[in-house]
Amino acid sequence: MALSSGQLSPELHDYVVSHSTGPDAVLRALAAETLERFPGNAGMQIAPEQGTFMTLLPRLIGARRAVEVGTFTGYSSLCLARGLGEDGELLCCDVNEEWTSLARRYWEEAGVAERIQLRLAPALDTLRELPPDLVFDLAFIDADKPSYVAYWEELVPRLRPGGVLLVDNTLWSGAVADPDRQDNSVRAIRAFNDHATADERVEQVILPIGDGLMLARKR
Ligand SMILES: C[S@@+](CC[C@H](N)C(=O)[O-])C[C@H]1O[C@@H](n2cnc3c(N)ncnc32)[C@H](O)[C@@H]1O
Repeated sequence: MALSSGQLSPELHDYVVSHSTGPDAVLRALAAETLERFPGNAGMQIAPEQGTFMTLLPRLIGARRAVEVGTFTGYSSLCLARGLGEDGELLCCDVNEEWTSLARRYWEEAGVAERIQLRLAPALDTLRELPPDLVFDLAFIDADKPSYVAYWEELVPRLRPGGVLLVDNTLWSGAVADPDRQDNSVRAIRAFNDHATADERVEQVILPIGDGLMLARKR
């Protein structure tokens, strides 16, 4: 989990960031408070340039209804909620009260709280309990890596045709392509990437942004 697009050289990363729309004051304050209060976990937050992309994408596809699996202190959800627009609806799934209480405060500060519903429960339970006919335009997966395939299998059927799935950490700081790395997380990510690649319901690409963001479109 990286705070920057770690596949790029530092110089090229700086160049990319300086030629991309940057985070506003609310996102910068959220990132700073996350780092101050939860220094050991702050690296879980998505990269700022990834956040910009995750506001642009829902705008580009006209998304109104989205779901996020893994909210932490709210950076990615705030970016998505902005991209969904005023009548958008974002369902956030997480299990941690303390981290998501910070998210709630920043959603209020950014004026997007009314668009977001947070469910504090294991995400698989939340997804399996949704009404059978509920369909999303966009889904984002960024929680426990061993469950990625299970989240994918819950979410692909719930996307509208042309809907989009985003999946974080699909390069795992480059470890996916390093045969010497065989820890559980990297094996889970490799297994997920293989699973998604073989899935004919979607067409997909791994973008080398942040820690590797898979972008999949349902056919
Ligand atoms: C990598 S962080 C998410 C970072 C977030 N997207 C951001 O931009 O700040 C992963 C989150 O997944 C949550 N999580 C882990 N296991 C979970 C589960 N089984 N169900 C729901 N959330 C889970 C953790 O509590 C944590 O907040």
